[in-house]
Amino acid sequence: MSVAIEVRGLAKRYGDVEAVRGIDFVVARGEVFGLLGPNGAGKTTTVEILEGHRERTAGEVSVLGHDPQRRERALRERVGIVLQSCGMYRHVTVREAVAHWAGFYPHPRDVDEVLDLAGLSEQAGVRTGRLSGGQLRRLDFALALVGDPELIFLDEPTTGFDPAARRQAWDTVRSLRDLGKTVLLTTHYLDEAQALADRVAIVQDGRILAQGAPGDLGAGSTRYRVAWRDAEGEAHERVTDDPTGLLHELTTDALARGERLEELSVTRPTLEDVYLELTAGGDARA
Ligand SMILES: Nc1ncnc2c1ncn2[C@@H]1O[C@H](COP(=O)(O)OP(=O)(O)OP(=O)(O)O)[C@@H](O)[C@H]1O
Ligand SMILES: [Mg+2]
Repeated sequence: MSVAIEVRGLAKRYGDVEAVRGIDFVVARGEVFGLLGPNGAGKTTTVEILEGHRERTAGEVSVLGHDPQRRERALRERVGIVLQSCGMYRHVTVREAVAHWAGFYPHPRDVDEVLDLAGLSEQAGVRTGRLSGGQLRRLDFALALVGDPELIFLDEPTTGFDPAARRQAWDTVRSLRDLGKTVLLTTHYLDEAQALADRVAIVQDGRILAQGAPGDLGAGSTRYRVAWRDAEGEAHERVTDDPTGLLHELTTDALARGERLEELSVTRPTLEDVYLELTAGGDARA
């Protein structure tokens, strides 16, 4: 396995705030890795350290074989970034902004192709100050892609997108993966993480609570949820690690009463269930 990002014992303190308290993870080349976690968990801090925008307090960090803290141009040219919030270029058109940004890279992609990938072809001639919030976010996306980077950091890339734009952004991330790019993204949308990420880490209070493939995090749990409606239409739900026994019991009782278990379902926990369970209890510092 070729490694794109390696983080060991990373810590970051802002004065009294311990934003990141010793986290470890490895992202393989060609992988889409998701950082999930509540507001203030330390995701942006971690991403900005990897981007070279913040200095760490402790730990080892390697990004494409470089220490990002040294801010070497050779690394910057290989990385694309979507910041959590961005607001430059208000007086130029979308195409001009992307073309200008392309000039910072040795081998940029074609500007119109990037506008198309980001879903901004129709706005190419519009001044960026006139874009809607979601369109501005797409511009951030375009700026991250135009340098044809090997590694792309996406901090909440689809926040504020309408559902169709979100699906389009997902297609963009998938096409990046198909091109062999590595993507590190943060998101609050667990369906997005489930749809895009090969692996995720769930972060809270600056620590990683769990990491793995989204499907494995749910399936790793031995609990099943059995749900049904009774004859009066009332919804019931039971959690069990032995669905066979529970179903036998439920169906035997129902048949004895001459009833049916309407809408009977047996499901494994989703990524969202696992996330909510792990992060329940909130911020230990609050
Ligand atoms: N420049 C700063 N100075 C002081 N504290 C900061 C600074 N930046 C972040 N913090 C604190 O560090 C902690 C982690 O913040 P961070 O932005 O990394 O969280 P996050 O996981 O990205 O949250 P969100 O989901 O809201 O974007 C928070 O408690 C935040 O208040
Ligand atoms: Mg953040």
